[in-house]
Amino acid sequence: MRRLAVPVAVLAGALTLAGCGGSDDTAAELSVGASYMPQPVSADMAAGFLTITNKGAAKDELTSVTSDVAGRVTMHDTVGGSMQEVTSFAVPAHGRLVFRSGGNHLMFEKLNRRPKQGDTITLKLKFAKSGPLTVEMPVKSATYNPSTGH
Ligand code: CU
Repeated sequence: MRRLAVPVAVLAGALTLAGCGGSDDTAAELSVGASYMPQPVSADMAAGFLTITNKGAAKDELTSVTSDVAGRVTMHDTVGGSMQEVTSFAVPAHGRLVFRSGGNHLMFEKLNRRPKQGDTITLKLKFAKSGPLTVEMPVKSATYNPSTGH
């Protein structure tokens, strides 16, 4: 059994490094940008958009989204002009997962308050492999266009 002692110790060291988010080239490295919520026109539902960038060499998967403003946040994609709920989204290695108007989007349901332009709402994103990310999402005008910035 002595022969097992060294490999086990090495493995434990590797796990500790990965847990610290160190430079592990087999892990995803996720960051979030370009997030916004158009001020909702309805009192009980809102949409949200963001981009998740993965600089790592491993793919990951967005598996759930929660927010302080909504009883439930669902993930939708858009196929042939109609949206459908999905249970996860792939985040490719060295790639991006993009949510944008007319495509992938988040839907905030059972709003407990109605977000107004200028507010910031907090989201928590959970992934299959990486640790959770917290996003501060600004509320923009109902007609906000991210490519023009207003
Ligand atoms: Cu939808």
